[in-house]
Amino acid sequence: MDINREQWGSKIGFVLAAAGSAVGLGNIWKFPYLVGENGGAAFVLLYLLCVVLVGLPVVIAEILIGRTTQKNPVGSFRELSKGNPFWMFIGGLGVLTGFLILSYYNVIAGWSLGYVVESLKGSFQNLENPAAAGELFNQLSSRPQWTLLFHGMFMMLTVSIIYAGVAKGIERASKIMMPALLILIIILVIRGITLNGASAGIHYLLKVDFSVITGKTFFLALGQAFFSLSLGMGALLTYGSYMSKKDSIPISALNIVLLDTLIALLAGFMIFPAVFAMGMQPAQGPSLIFNILPIVFNSIPAGYIFRIIFFILLTVAALTSTISLLEVITAFVVDEFQFERKKAAIVLGIIVFVIGIPSALSFCGWQNVMIFGLTCFDFVDFISANIFLPLGGIFIALFVGWFWGTKNSVPHLLEGTVKFPVFLVSTWSILIRFVAPVLILLIFLSSIGIL
Ligand code: PHE
Repeated sequence: MDINREQWGSKIGFVLAAAGSAVGLGNIWKFPYLVGENGGAAFVLLYLLCVVLVGLPVVIAEILIGRTTQKNPVGSFRELSKGNPFWMFIGGLGVLTGFLILSYYNVIAGWSLGYVVESLKGSFQNLENPAAAGELFNQLSSRPQWTLLFHGMFMMLTVSIIYAGVAKGIERASKIMMPALLILIIILVIRGITLNGASAGIHYLLKVDFSVITGKTFFLALGQAFFSLSLGMGALLTYGSYMSKKDSIPISALNIVLLDTLIALLAGFMIFPAVFAMGMQPAQGPSLIFNILPIVFNSIPAGYIFRIIFFILLTVAALTSTISLLEVITAFVVDEFQFERKKAAIVLGIIVFVIGIPSALSFCGWQNVMIFGLTCFDFVDFISANIFLPLGGIFIALFVGWFWGTKNSVPHLLEGTVKFPVFLVSTWSILIRFVAPVLILLIFLSSIGIL
């Protein structure tokens, strides 16, 4: 064990930081628009199934690998597989996926930062309906200067926290901001569901129409579960590597998953009642929250102030996720190539910024540049969230369940856990060995039309 390796400052520090990684734009920006594009309650139901049957067991497995080895994804797989190149490649795939996700995620995070500035300027004060807000959104996002400026600024924010180190930077930021975000979302949910005509939105989120479920809906729900839980690319593994052996993995994992799911569901209840109350369509794509939310605030007393606070918190929620992405890549470079942490953070930040430029331009100028029929943004999003993350998930499950084996891994799982019921351990073993890999595989096959 490396006694000099940093650890979280406290028990709650790990859970909050990992939940900070999980809770982000995935919950507040992406989950609602995917629900809106894929059949409402049916998507929510499939999403929850994926979280319980695949998400939670793999979250436990991923943290377990990290905490046992106290290494970055590649180093972890190297140690546990005794240098097997295939498993090291899987670790490397995680690092690559982190690169890709960060590159486009940061663009949307930049938008939310831009919306803080617009809120301060009072740009939304006189907008009467979401259509007007949508127009403003189009105006802003179609200006490359605006998008690239905030893309760059956001990357600088992320780099500065990674620069400061694990406990001081990441942990401190998460501890303060997460609870504030939760409170503000609850205020918005209450506002949303009390608007005139909100009940159609509630109905939309609760009444499952099974006829809209296809293989593709399942596939998108699975990708979203991985994306939202920061799963399948080594973020939780890396955070787990700073976790103390005195803390309980299953309990931490459960807390992370519950919090992440709660915030995604709340985000749904924050947006859809308002969407329906304002007579809008749910299927608006990535601009959904940017069109709806600014207007909701106009019907709240002191909406101007609350709007500013909300976009600040959204920005921070995005930031606690981007830092986890950059941390994976940084930990890899620092551990594997003995790079100095501070230098690594800056150099990697610049590289990711540059890789993100085509995604940023997908909304302003490069709308017609297509890869397999998708814009650069959609393409990178698709291959990383829908392909690489679930693929990483299968291999993490197979690794822990079969290669390393539950016989060897369970003792590490139980470290720090005072008296854990045996049936829960065996349930987890079954989920990780059989259910998770088989389900992911079936969903993959059905989405490409084989099933
Ligand atoms: N889970 C984050 C979100 O929902 C995104 C993310 C994905 C972060 C993968 C880290 C790793 O916003």
